[in-house]
This record gives sequence, C-alpha cells and structure tokens, in this order.
Amino acid sequence: MTDDVKPAGPQAAPARLLAGELWWKAGVVYQVYPRSFQDTNGDGVGDIKGVTARLDYLAWLGVDALWLSPVCRSPMADYGYDVSDYCDIDPLFGTLADFDALVAEAHRRRLRVIMDFVPNHTSEEHPWFREARASRDNPKRDWYIWRDPAADGGPPNNWISNFGGPAWTLDPATGQYYYHAFLREQPDLNWRNPQVRAAMMDVLRFWLDRGVDGFRVDVIWHLMKDGLLRDNPVNPDYRPGEPEINSLLQIHSADQPEVMQVIAEMRAVLDAYDARVLIGEIYLPLERLVAYYGTDLSGAHLPFNFQLIQTPWHAKAVADLVAEYEAALPAGGWPNWVLGNHDQPRIAARVGDAQGRVAAVLLLTLRGTPTLYYGDEIGLGRVPIPPERVRDPWEHNEPGRGRDPERTPMQWVPGPHAGFSTVEPWLPLDPQAQTGNVETLRDNPTSILTLHRRLIALRREHPALSIGAYRAVSVSGDVLVYERWHGDEVVRVALNFGHEACTTEVPPESGWEVLLSSAGGRRGEGPQDGYFALAGDEALVLVRRAPGAEG
Ligand code: NOJ
Repeated sequence: MTDDVKPAGPQAAPARLLAGELWWKAGVVYQVYPRSFQDTNGDGVGDIKGVTARLDYLAWLGVDALWLSPVCRSPMADYGYDVSDYCDIDPLFGTLADFDALVAEAHRRRLRVIMDFVPNHTSEEHPWFREARASRDNPKRDWYIWRDPAADGGPPNNWISNFGGPAWTLDPATGQYYYHAFLREQPDLNWRNPQVRAAMMDVLRFWLDRGVDGFRVDVIWHLMKDGLLRDNPVNPDYRPGEPEINSLLQIHSADQPEVMQVIAEMRAVLDAYDARVLIGEIYLPLERLVAYYGTDLSGAHLPFNFQLIQTPWHAKAVADLVAEYEAALPAGGWPNWVLGNHDQPRIAARVGDAQGRVAAVLLLTLRGTPTLYYGDEIGLGRVPIPPERVRDPWEHNEPGRGRDPERTPMQWVPGPHAGFSTVEPWLPLDPQAQTGNVETLRDNPTSILTLHRRLIALRREHPALSIGAYRAVSVSGDVLVYERWHGDEVVRVALNFGHEACTTEVPPESGWEVLLSSAGGRRGEGPQDGYFALAGDEALVLVRRAPGAEG
C-alpha cells in the first residue's frame, strides 16, 4: 500500500540556470571549522595554512566550495564570532597573505571560497565599541544599542541572550545598558545607523576585492530589532529544560521587516561583482524563512534551510517537510539543504551511524544546494567532552547546550592526534579516530567517506541530480521515494528510514537500474519482477535510461 505524496507544484519545472550562478546552484558547499581542520604550527588549533594544505582532499572529495567559519581578528570569546577587526586575519589562524594564498590555491583547483560575515555584533574589543562605550556623546555611541535603565534600575526590556541570561549589560561608567543577543562580549551593532551600514558594506567589498566568492552571513535575521524595543511576549509552549531563550517569543528582537532593506543592500554590493553568493543563517519557521529570498529575489540567494535538523527522522515527516518547502519557495528561489553545522549535534549523533548513510543520500539528492559539514563525511558522531575540556561558553551558561561535541578536530590518519596536529588538540578527538579517519576510509569501497564521494560524483555525472526538477513519488511505511529529472533522464531515490528489509516498486517501463546503494555495491542491478530489494537502513539511487541511451 502506498500513500501518494502530493506532487510538487510549479517548481517541478527544470530551473533555467544562468551560467554565472551555476556553481552555487549545482555545486556542493563544504563547511570548514578552521580551528578544527588542520593545525600546521603545532599549537593544537587549526589554521589557514592547514586549510590550504587540505585543498587537495576537498578537490578529491569533489565539493565545489568551502565555507570558512570566522577567521578575522577576534578575542575568541565565541571562537571567532566576536570580531575585533573585520579586515584582518587573527594571528591564531595566520595572516592576510595566508588567506590570499588560500583563495588563490582554492581557485586553482576550481574551488570557491565563502567567508563567514558576522555583522550583527562585534567583539567588545572592537575599536568601534571601545569608542562607543567611552562616553555618551562619543560619535560612535549610536553604532551600538544603548538604553537607560528601567525605572527599577534593571534592563530596559525583557529580552534574553541566546546563550541564556539577560541580553543587556550595564556599563557602569556611562550608566546605560547595551544590548547583546549573544554574549556580553558581543555587543549588537545598530543597523539603523547609516554609518554602520556603510562601514559594513565596505567590509564586504574588502573581501570581495580579495577574491572571495561569497558570504555566509551570521544570524542575518537578527540585524534589525523593533524600533521601540518592546518586550517579547512569553512563550506559552515553553517547556522547562529548553534553552532559556525559548521562554520568550522572539517577535520584537529579530525578524523585523526593515531587515529586508539591509539584505538588499548587501546583495547590491555582491551583484556589482561577478557570480558571488549570499547565504543567510536563519532559524525561522518555513513561511518566514522563505521571505528572506526578498522581493523579486533581491535578498539572500540561499536562506539556509535547517529544517532537516529540526524535523523528526521519519519518512513521512521528511516527505511532508520537502513538500512544504518546495511549495513555499518563491518563483525562481533556489532551494538548499543542511544536515549539520558547528552549532548543531552531528547527524550521526542524531540518527545513528546506519541512518547517517541514508541522511547522506538524502542531503545529496534533494533538489537544491547541499551544505556538508566537515567530518560528517567520515561519520564523526558526538565526541565526548570531559568537563575540564569544555570550551564553548554556552555550556558554561547552560550545561548540556554546549557545541564542543560537534567541533572536534578532523581526523586524517590513524597516527598520533589523527594527523590534525603534532600536539594535543584544543578539543579531544573521537575515541574511534584510529579507524574513523580519511586515510583508513578512503579506499574502503563501503565506507561512509566513499559513499559521500560517490554521491558527489553522481551529482556531477547526472544533471538530473544537480539541477533537475523534483517530484515526490510515495511514502510508504519507512520508505520515502522521490524522483529528480532533467531532459530524458529520471533518477529515482528510495530511502529506507527503518531498520527492516523491504522492497520498493518501480514503474513498469524498462531500463531501471541501480546507480548507487548506500551500503556499497549493487551498481547496474535491475529490478526483480518490478521491485528492488531495500535492506534496513539502505538508500538506493536508481536511474531509468531512455531507450537506446548509453550507460
Ligand atoms: C551563529 C553562529 O553560527 C554561532 O556559532 C555563534 O555563536 C552565534 N551566531 C553568534 O555569532
């Protein structure tokens, strides 16, 4: 019995791609967390030269672009998301010359480089904030968000920091509070001030002129706050144990209509250059998320779609999500999918190793740009962090919320420190590092790494997978089936979200065969009596060759 999933809407027509945009539409983005990728100077922390040294690996894996989490100068209160100089590289990571060399070497290998841009807040050590806090009448005062205390001397409103605790800190010297959506060391900029906007647009140009291919913009939906700074309402659905930030509905502290104008300004800056991409980090419900494509697509090219992280791991839930997302996209808006990042428990930790393979097939065969988080391709899971090794300030504020387990070093070889460093790394390695590393997995035909590499190669070989249209086929029990098609070619994906073996039926036309099994092998296998067997936790990618087509 098959419950048919409603067919996708107008977006089912193949997208017309402009040549310049093709790279970020058809390509795979790979997120590098630079502290944890490769250490070259023996301090236990990754650096830019380390990323450059590993470009051949990324080219071998087959990805098209790397997004580098922040490398600008920073006191590292939030590991680089607290910038004290937007136009310099932190010495921990190297120099501007190292960065230029990375971009040049990446481009030589046809890899694009996407920078992390952190415009919502600076570090408290940024010269702008030092000036701003110097006196109430300092010309930079209005670059940040200052308010007098409430009548009782407390904060000006009830807003809560995303890391727990109040979002306002009193500056005793000037007697006012400043707002920070994150740590007190991360004061929010006042994006209503035209000088702030101009200065930040110059930052974008600084990096674009150095050749970067785009930006991932940190918490882009936070940039504008309610002009009256009204209290956020209490969340009636809040359950104890959730992060404190969820106790209020964030309707006044973020996602204000005026933010669209700011994003359009950023887009205009990028559009003056050739084929650059603007990606926005946005955690909002679908209907709000898609607003960030902007009127007439003047907003972010790719408002990050984190829905797979937030949706229960069941065939029906994922089928519904894909249908809702496809239907919600504005005309011409290009989709994208994310399974993990440096803020979220790793996919293998969330769904287990076996389903992690199914997840890889899903990520790399859905319609839209996939972003792959470093280490997921070698199956890194939740790395245990002993209390004395905790680094993430969020863990100190709200135990259990820390993001260290998903930020541990990349594992390259079975040797000491997994080839990441010559010394003990800043975060512990996975206890499985002796087997879960690139060298051990790369020549194993059934490894998770081989699976990722094959999937990425398939996207290149089959335009149906990279740029083709999407149509839902069915969801039946634990099995989700959809098709991607382009021209004459139809690729069908069948994902078993369960642990039990079952079968998946194909239409009677001849020519169906296996392109890939998540378990390895089976390539070229045809159906038996119109069915393909699906093992538990197995995903199949099938192709129907047009009559007479060569394989
Ligand atoms: C989102 C980033 O991804 C996260 O790591 C950071 O802590 C916050 N923004 C604050 O910049």
